[in-house]
Amino acid sequence: MKEIQRVFEWFLSQYCFMVKTINDCVIQQTGMLFIQFDDQFGAMKKAANHFVVVIEDVTVGKIISSATLLIEHKFIHRASQRGRVEDVVVHEGHRGKQLAKLMLESLRLLSIELGCYKLTLECDEKMRPFYEKFGFKLGSTLFLQLRFFE
Ligand SMILES: CC(C)(COP(=O)(O)OP(=O)(O)OC[C@H]1O[C@@H](n2cnc3c(N)ncnc32)[C@H](O)[C@@H]1OP(=O)(O)O)[C@@H](O)C(=O)NCCC(=O)NCCS
Repeated sequence: MKEIQRVFEWFLSQYCFMVKTINDCVIQQTGMLFIQFDDQFGAMKKAANHFVVVIEDVTVGKIISSATLLIEHKFIHRASQRGRVEDVVVHEGHRGKQLAKLMLESLRLLSIELGCYKLTLECDEKMRPFYEKFGFKLGSTLFLQLRFFE
């Protein structure tokens, strides 16, 4: 367990370094400023419930895919955890190589290791067939939201 945490802390620090120095695909997509990245990254690290998995193309030293496991601590289910999959992305030039599959499997195993009783995600209807490939099923609960800004 400690070893997994150590490895993922290393992932996080590498991710931070790579994103800041190499024009990473995630930052391209969000249009975020480096200063905002620093603040958000610091907050995520402090909360210690974000596990960011990345895949690096070591031949060019560039991160080409990323996915996040967010852990929510619960009192229910014998005080266990719920895992949420967030921000799954593979760089356009590297899609169709089973990289998303690899990342989702890593998040699945990690969520089990961290004691999650379930792993959930929210996505558009068009992405449903993709996640169903990995065993995710439509649940019985509705997803409602109050949106404060776009
Ligand atoms: C969706 C995305 C992550 C897939 O990445 P990828 O690396 O090309 O996916 P993989 O190569 O690992 O594909 C694994 C399987 O899913 C299938 N698949 C990939 N994209 C799919 C899609 N949009 N719909 C249905 N199935 C899909 C593949 O055909 C493959 O099937 P197989 O195992 O039977 O061969 C990538 O297209 C992406 O980054 N899209 C933009 C961001 C996004 O939409 N993220 C999801 C937000 S909810």
